[in-house]
Amino acid sequence: MFLYFEEYALVSKLIASRLSVEPVQVSVHRFPDGESLVRLPAQVDEEVMLCRSLFMPNDKLIEIMLAARQARQLGAKKLILVAPYLCYMRQDKAFHPGEAVSQKIVGEFLSGLFDCVVTVDAHLHRVSSLGQVMPAIQAVNLSAAGPISDYLTSIAGTPLLLGPDEESLQWVKSIGERCGLDYAVCQKVRLGDREVQVELPRLSGSYDRVVIIDDILSTGRTIAVAAALLKKTGIGRIDCLVTHPIFAPGAYELLKESGVEEIISTDTIPHETNKISVTPVIADFFLQKDF
Ligand code: R5P
Repeated sequence: MFLYFEEYALVSKLIASRLSVEPVQVSVHRFPDGESLVRLPAQVDEEVMLCRSLFMPNDKLIEIMLAARQARQLGAKKLILVAPYLCYMRQDKAFHPGEAVSQKIVGEFLSGLFDCVVTVDAHLHRVSSLGQVMPAIQAVNLSAAGPISDYLTSIAGTPLLLGPDEESLQWVKSIGERCGLDYAVCQKVRLGDREVQVELPRLSGSYDRVVIIDDILSTGRTIAVAAALLKKTGIGRIDCLVTHPIFAPGAYELLKESGVEEIISTDTIPHETNKISVTPVIADFFLQKDF
């Protein structure tokens, strides 16, 4: 049985269609005090797949907990979470004494609910695999590099791919190698939620177009600062492409002001900039014979 939530209906239905299963919506009622009433069908199959992208995650985490527990009550034996955007992965250590390491804690929380978690381009920095975050279950981190590379090879010219910080190297490198484009990364120091310092790399070639590539766009500050620096070097055209378009309030305007011409994203989070779909990557994973 394939269950989805309203705010991610479009992409969930695309995945369900590729898997040739009937999608069923989980209904959620929000009470005036902020609590949620979650309702599943009265009967569920032994295998239940729950599809929900975990952006703006706090309410969603409670609701998937209620849904997962209810599915178990109804007899589900295998519970799979498909979360194309997996939240809370960036806080992977205590940067100050007493800070909760949310990557570990949320990883344990999801491991206690599901038998399998499947996501795309999880923000893994100091750990090398999602299995390390959720060792007790099957944890699968798929890559959006394939569809992103297909998109980049379809656009004009041979842009430089630029990661705005060292952490982005893993994504920029795999995309650059797939589509045969040069890539480089900047150095970044984060001073606060909306304050970053970025240093451009020394570039060996000359480029008339740059595509800034990152996994997550939240406040947009990281990409905006990199774009503004690039603009000063006289680069003709600057675009940006991200896997997860979180877009905190003001991010879109900030990017436009900084000189970014086109903003492109994948549909791990619904946004008007979605031009690339990760649905084939997710569906193909489940269609493998050995899953
Ligand atoms: C963190 O390193 C991520 O890869 C992104 O660079 C970061 O989340 C972007 O955040 P913002 O858009 O708020 O600068």
